Amino acid sequence: MTCGTILTETHGRVRLVTLNRPKALNAINRQLTRELVAAAIEADADPTVGCIVVTGSPKAFAAGADIKEMAAATATEMYINDHFAAWEQFTAVRTPIIAAVAGYALGGGCELAMMCDFILAADTAKFGQPEIKLGVNPGIGGSQRLTRFIGKSKAMEMCLTGRTMDAAEAERCGLVSHVVPADRLLVEAINRRYETTLSEGVRFERRVFYATFATHDQKEGMTAFLEKRLPTFTHG
Ligand code: CAA
Repeated sequence: MTCGTILTETHGRVRLVTLNRPKALNAINRQLTRELVAAAIEADADPTVGCIVVTGSPKAFAAGADIKEMAAATATEMYINDHFAAWEQFTAVRTPIIAAVAGYALGGGCELAMMCDFILAADTAKFGQPEIKLGVNPGIGGSQRLTRFIGKSKAMEMCLTGRTMDAAEAERCGLVSHVVPADRLLVEAINRRYETTLSEGVRFERRVFYATFATHDQKEGMTAFLEKRLPTFTHG
């Protein structure tokens, strides 16, 4: 389905969302934000969707927030419009989201990738928070999330110099989970749906763990540990 600034397709249980503002290198404007967040919420509510993949073009995942749209705004307008607040709904999505990144993921593009559950990168990917070069700072969580991904020192260096990091460095320092050849990116991202099975498995495991607290054996096993004796299990 085409919807203004994004394309959506379904491959089995994978909902593929492609950012589609090629002339602006997928710069994230208000319309794209609205449409991408809505697509993620819609996929999240669809029980047939097990995983969402967000991708861009070979040249750019996204080159940042739309500078043209923001350039003339006053501080009051930015504050009142609360331009970036919609992303909180994106991060609240419970269906696993994979960022499949080729080309530039800069500023808001890097931040979007980091809001996903993990990042799969093509060997052409370039990550950075170049906002300092625009006289601003990251605005959609970049300073916070990048620090958590790659540590304070490297994150500070990235934000204070605005330099870009290539895919190999991004993998080395833990920003991306995996680097693949550019022509394999989407195939790999869609196949990674099996990791969804992993997260579903983790959720299932947690529920089963909680349920064991209704059994005699859990009480006996834990009590025996605390009383430093061997447990007598009854399988009940
Ligand atoms: N916003 C709006 N338009 C953008 C854009 C952006 N972030 N990035 C690129 N474009 C536009 C360019 O203006 C250009 O449009 P025109 O053809 O109309 O001039 C088109 O996309 C192609 O871009 P370039 O000609 O610059 O392409 P290039 O290959 O020479 O360079 C680039 C690519 C290095 C990514 C360069 O475009 C660039 O530096 N872009 C800006 C990156 C940036 O600073 N991002 C941070 C934005 S602020 C932000 O994101 C804040 C936040 O935290 C939320």
